[in-house]
Amino acid sequence: MDNTPRLFIKAGLIYAVIGAVLGITMAINPSLSHPLRFIHIHVNLLGFMTMMVSGVAYHVLPRFSARTLPWPAGMKYQFILQNAGLIGMVAVQGFGDWRGGEHQVIFIFFSVLAGVSFFIMFYNLYFVLSPAPEESPPTKITGDMKVGPVIDQFPQALAVFVDSGFQALANPTARKTFAKMVSIDKACEKHGVSPAEFLDKLNNEVFSEEPSASVPPVAPAGTVGKEIQRGESCEADTRVGSLIKTYITTKTVFEAHYGEGCFSCPGQVYETVEQTASMHNVDLNLILGEINVMIQKELQSS
Ligand code: HEM
Ligand code: HEM
Repeated sequence: MDNTPRLFIKAGLIYAVIGAVLGITMAINPSLSHPLRFIHIHVNLLGFMTMMVSGVAYHVLPRFSARTLPWPAGMKYQFILQNAGLIGMVAVQGFGDWRGGEHQVIFIFFSVLAGVSFFIMFYNLYFVLSPAPEESPPTKITGDMKVGPVIDQFPQALAVFVDSGFQALANPTARKTFAKMVSIDKACEKHGVSPAEFLDKLNNEVFSEEPSASVPPVAPAGTVGKEIQRGESCEADTRVGSLIKTYITTKTVFEAHYGEGCFSCPGQVYETVEQTASMHNVDLNLILGEINVMIQKELQSS
């Protein structure tokens, strides 16, 4: 889980405890209803409920709609503004009443901070639910395209680049960094490669009917974990997608532990066994043991 959703949930839980203490205080001594009622309500609803919901939604919704937040840094700003707004509002109320005079001016200031945090939440969570605009894949690779995105989209292009003198691209870090910025034309110019010939070779490889068998598939940038081949056993950093493709019977182990819904999650393909185990609070060694038993059975029966 990312850091900010985790912070939202932790803060929400802290506000839940404070809200309960305030509620109990009012229950014991109803004369404290003023000023505590307002504080109790907002610590519970703006603190506990809203922050819990935001934290969970920020963790879950991008995964379920398989797209990134429209403004990821906004999460952090929402967190800061919502906490500052809430703490400021309840502090003003705690010092008397939020109504009237200077108090009200300060209260309005903190209300606006909290209000802005809601706009950020709306923007991020509303639009993460909109389907990503469909981009039709290019039918031809041209010199003005950037090297990194071309390799991300057409993994089989990597071998052509490396064969043609761009050996640095064999390094995944290079693909994720400078290759994202450099166009194919620029790269050819730097390496003294003829762009026309190279693009011909590239387009032949990428758009020929017969996919090249020699090139292993490259996972999207940022992917962790490793592929598994038939005959090998499963390890903590094996990717779930690759495991299930190689040993179909291991799917039952995941279903037993995580429920069937797990396979509707687009993230599972690129997550490692260890990541999914920690996300579902399942002991890693236990699930690895069960997976490897399944693998043995599957290998023996084939
Ligand atoms: C240990 C837990 C809780 C206790 C002991 C408690 C106690 C109270 C008390 C005594 C009041 C009446 C205050 C008054 O009118 O003078 C009240 C009001 C209220 N509480 Fe709680 N509460 C608790 C948890 C919560 C939670 C978790 C929420 C929301 C998530 C919540 C939301 C509210 C609201 C909205 C009101 C105002 C109701 C109205 O306008 O009539 N409370 N609570
Ligand atoms: C931008 C954030 C917010 C601001 C500036 C704000 C401000 C206020 C103000 C000024 C009042 C009137 C208090 C009074 O009569 O003394 C109020 C009441 C109330 N607010 Fe909020 N609020 C905010 C967020 C929320 C949220 C997120 C919830 C619920 C999810 C909520 C639930 C309530 C409730 C239930 C009352 C009635 C309290 C009562 O019965 O005395 N507020 N709020």
